[in-house]
Amino acid sequence: APLQARNTFGVPATADLLAEVRSLEGLQQLLDAPFVQGLPMLVLGEGSNLLLVGRVPGLVLSLGLPGLKVIDEDAGRVRVLAEAGERWDDLVRWSVGRGLHGLENMALIPGSVGACPIQNIGAYGADVSQTLAWVEAWDLDTRRLRRLDRTECAFGYRDSRFKRESGRWIILRVAFDLQREAPLRLDYPGVREELAVIGVDPPRPLHVAEAISRIRARKLPLPALLGNAGSFFKNPEIPGARIEAMLERHPGMPNWPAAEGQVKLSAGWLIEQAGWRGFREGDAGVAEQHALVLVNHGRADGAQILELARRIAASVRERFGVDLEPEPRLVGASW
Ligand code: FAD
Ligand code: EPU
Repeated sequence: APLQARNTFGVPATADLLAEVRSLEGLQQLLDAPFVQGLPMLVLGEGSNLLLVGRVPGLVLSLGLPGLKVIDEDAGRVRVLAEAGERWDDLVRWSVGRGLHGLENMALIPGSVGACPIQNIGAYGADVSQTLAWVEAWDLDTRRLRRLDRTECAFGYRDSRFKRESGRWIILRVAFDLQREAPLRLDYPGVREELAVIGVDPPRPLHVAEAISRIRARKLPLPALLGNAGSFFKNPEIPGARIEAMLERHPGMPNWPAAEGQVKLSAGWLIEQAGWRGFREGDAGVAEQHALVLVNHGRADGAQILELARRIAASVRERFGVDLEPEPRLVGASW
């Protein structure tokens, strides 16, 4: 089955087998089917955080499970349950439309609800681990349905247990604890300014979601117009002891304190400084608006995008002594 229309890079790839599942019973039947036993399996959401290189062996599984609902509430807190097949941004709009706090800073992130815990999606000062209550997932190792609370998910920056135990989990539904009232998180550069343009005072989560959507629309290329998977690299961390010497050589280099005495750097800045912003070779390139976003101008394939990513990482390593690590999942290749 062709996967070109099912990945936001728009690169050509084929799956040996593609199964679309619309119910839990359907999934159960599929997983019990003799022809599936022993096959490698890739769960595919909206393909917005993948780089497909060539043929995808085994079974590609697409989960069409729909549903958004409130399952519990008290005076301040509302527990919301979202099924894996829902679009993430639909959940965000649904929640801010009810005045609920918690997801507004993550408006307009592409992808499915089922994928949101994989890399602990985040933006503009928030991430999913802050509001997620639990994840219900099928464990392919033990062939049982499991409910994992937030701690068991072992979330980190663009990281989780699910990402580290790749191939083990099929995420089916996610519960979030949202609040009727909570302080808004407006500290990320540009958010207050954009809210002032909207001009509602005091702002509600709906307005924050709108402000952030406008910033994102200016900063990030729209995959429907220009293939991409958002940030291609994670923002790297270096030991705190190295930062002073680096700042001496590169004054003005953006940096933030991170956990365990590490310092986080801006991959976009490093790549831009190395001269790659707007670069293009054939149809593989680097976005004009944002150096961290690799793009497909039309006919690039996964191998060409990966080749460009390797050249960029090598040049950043040479110039700054910093290693970049891809953020999207590489399928059919390793870094
Ligand atoms: P896919 O790309 O289909 O899959 C990604 C990974 O998750 C794969 O390993 C897949 O096997 C696995 N997976 C998917 N669904 C399931 C499931 N139900 N069970 C088990 N495994 C599953 N990310 C951010 O964090 N912050 C951003 O601000 C952000 N901005 C972006 C902007 C653009 C323009 C684009 C294209 C991407 C951006 N991303 C961002 C990345 C992407 O939106 C997220 O990673 C999103 O969660 C991917 O969802 P998906 O359904 O497309 O997953
Ligand atoms: N910058 C440059 N040149 C560029 C791009 C960025 O110098 O071409 C510098 C600027 O100093 C800018 C800083 O980098 O102020 C930060 O840029 P931005 O606000 O765009 O954020 P980011 O660190 O590049 C991260 C996430 C995004 C998320 C935004 C907003 C990662 C890998 N990426 O990007 O997530 O939307 O913050 O919170 O952490 C994604 O994961 O796909 C993604 C888009």
